[in-house]
Amino acid sequence: MSEEKSPPGEVEARHGLRMLLRNPVSLAGIALVIVSIANILIFVMLDLIAKKPSPYIGILAYMVAPGFLSLGLLLILAGVLLERRKKVPATEFYPTIDLKNPAQRSAVISFVTFLVAFVAVSAAGSYKAYEFTDSVQFCGQLCHTVMNPEYTAYQLSPHARVACVECHVGAGATWYVKSKLSGARQVYAATFNTFPRPIPTPVHNLRPAQETCEQCHWPKKFYGGQLKVFTHYASDESNTVRQIRMLINTGGGDPATGAPEGIHWHMNIANRIDYVAADEKRQVIPYVHVVDQQGRVSEYYAKDSSLSKDQIAKAPQHRMDCVDCHNRPTHIYVPPDLAVDQSLLAKKLDASLPFLKQQAVTVLTANYATTDTAMQGIASGLQGFYENKYPEVVKMKQLELRNAVDEIQQIYKRTTFPEMKLNWQTHPNNLGHFYFNGCFRCHDGQHVSSDGKVIPKDCNLCHTLMSQSEGTTNVATAAPPAGFKHPVDIGDLTQVNCSDCHNGGVGP
Ligand code: HEC
Ligand code: HEC
Ligand code: HEC
Ligand code: HEC
Ligand code: HEC
Ligand code: HEC
Repeated sequence: MSEEKSPPGEVEARHGLRMLLRNPVSLAGIALVIVSIANILIFVMLDLIAKKPSPYIGILAYMVAPGFLSLGLLLILAGVLLERRKKVPATEFYPTIDLKNPAQRSAVISFVTFLVAFVAVSAAGSYKAYEFTDSVQFCGQLCHTVMNPEYTAYQLSPHARVACVECHVGAGATWYVKSKLSGARQVYAATFNTFPRPIPTPVHNLRPAQETCEQCHWPKKFYGGQLKVFTHYASDESNTVRQIRMLINTGGGDPATGAPEGIHWHMNIANRIDYVAADEKRQVIPYVHVVDQQGRVSEYYAKDSSLSKDQIAKAPQHRMDCVDCHNRPTHIYVPPDLAVDQSLLAKKLDASLPFLKQQAVTVLTANYATTDTAMQGIASGLQGFYENKYPEVVKMKQLELRNAVDEIQQIYKRTTFPEMKLNWQTHPNNLGHFYFNGCFRCHDGQHVSSDGKVIPKDCNLCHTLMSQSEGTTNVATAAPPAGFKHPVDIGDLTQVNCSDCHNGGVGP
């Protein structure tokens, strides 16, 4: 047998395969394969070189194009099988493979090599697809309107560099599958526009904090006291600055690192707290069950509960964890009042503009149907006020005024999302007690146990006032631990709910 000339069997085999491929179905398949491979190469390259790859490129490169590639390969195979069925009698449909025949041997080797290569490449591709569906772009950007509020707030939060999946999925296969199943439902809802506006909170199937937050935050850490400065601006002509410096008694929850005390006494390490909520958003808590370090049980009932003891006994209990207080660790919808304070403090708003605090909050909290009308409303509202009341300011402080309009429009975009019917009020923040009941859901002095213990509302339980000033004057009444002095007299502070008046909008 000569080296140059192919053996007759091989020629026949190649010739036979070529004939079999010559049918419209397989030809369409071949065209599809070529186009898909070209697309995959281009998209993968774009994905690799782009500094901020678009989520769509990932979808095309790792999901859509490989799908078409597989479809093309299936079409080729289907065409070949159909063609062969036409050409050979049914009894000879399956070929006998004779590995002694060099032609058939090399055909089998090429086929197996192709198969191995294809499986290897698609495994790598699937891994990329898996990585991609876990990426922040996939979760946050793909359905812009749906996720815009969550994504916007996330990008401005302390967790901006923590991937969505670290909190929402976590490690392990079960939660990955769960999240992708629920994800598939969400893709459907987004495609057919059936998703709720806003996306409701709390998230009912959120993974327990032990398996997410605590992977990064060591729950045994003992914080002790932490100084925090709260800066506000009054709604008066000169936007008077008011500062409160407090030592927040964060403490710790693990006996190994310090006495379980302070706010993180709640950490669920040395003790266990379960509660019953009367409403969907968990803002009303009529019942609290505590098992302390020594195993003693206390049950607290709210005095004015709308639920009877019977209903409470039947209601589902939630075990308290990080997210019951830190429910907005990253999707923080800052109330307009606070957002304006922060911009004044950062000097992005000029406090020399008269009544700026009051006017900014007024235009931010007006009712707008869309973000676009809000942008116009903010500009005309602010301009109108100063033209009417302070024409000389409009002349003298043109630049400051223009910057103020700009900044307030930005604040609106960060805090209010009319398209998703979402704002700071739809998603309460449970940390503290200023704009929402938060800690006062239990610490309202109204939750009493059968032996007469009360969940305390003592103003020095959770923090110690260090100093308090208004403008340049010190208003704290005594050396620490002095009581917080409310700017206007509202009587005994332990008898009020701060959030009844402080709602983040106009008003106080
Ligand atoms: C630091 C952890 C963390 C990260 C990172 C994170 N989330 Fe969340 N997310 C939460 C918590 C906690 C909640 C509220 C849970 C509750 O109150 O039940 C939440 C709630 C949500 C909700 C429900 C609506 C709401 O605001 O309560 C959506 C939607 C959401 N997250 C999407 C995302 C997306 C998209 C990303 C990435 C861009 C992301 N999350 C990143 C912790 C996180
Ligand atoms: C992947 C790691 C990671 C996960 C998971 C994570 N965090 Fe964090 N968290 C961080 C880092 C890093 C910071 C510090 C950010 C900084 O100060 O720059 C932080 C900061 C914080 C802070 C301080 C915020 C502030 O205002 O300074 C709180 C509170 C917090 N995380 C709570 C949570 C909660 C609750 C969860 C679970 C829902 C969680 N974290 C999940 C990494 C993580
Ligand atoms: C009873 C409510 C509550 C629970 C439960 C709770 N925290 Fe906190 N945590 C607070 C408060 C209040 C602060 C003080 C910080 C503040 O006021 O901004 C704080 C502070 C922190 C800080 C420090 C932030 C900083 O400014 O440095 C971290 C980190 C943190 N918590 C993580 C967690 C984690 C993780 C868990 C769950 C294991 C948890 N917390 C459980 C209320 C709580
Ligand atoms: C679900 C109900 C509930 C919520 C919400 C809650 N607590 Fe508590 N807290 C309790 C109970 C119950 C006790 C124990 C009272 C007792 O038996 O002395 C307690 C005790 C405390 C203590 C005293 C711990 C010690 O040193 O012994 C502090 C401090 C505290 N809470 C802070 C907070 C802060 C801050 C928040 C809000 C971020 C908060 N709590 C939210 C139920 C709650
Ligand atoms: C159960 C714990 C707890 C009790 C009781 C409590 N506070 Fe607070 N308070 C907090 C926490 C936590 C914060 C910090 C919230 C934050 O970091 O945003 C806070 C913040 C504040 C602030 C600053 C608010 C701001 O945004 O400027 C003032 C003022 C204040 N508390 C006054 C009081 C007064 C007055 C009482 C008594 C009626 C009281 N607190 C009782 C937990 C408590
Ligand atoms: C009856 C209504 C009412 C209640 C209840 C109330 N406040 Fe106020 N608060 C006001 C008014 C009015 C102002 C003054 C606003 C101004 O001068 O611009 C104010 C101002 C403040 C300020 C100064 C910040 C600012 O925006 O000027 C702080 C801090 C404050 N209150 C804390 C609290 C705390 C903490 C509680 C709960 C213990 C509370 N308030 C309960 C009405 C109330």
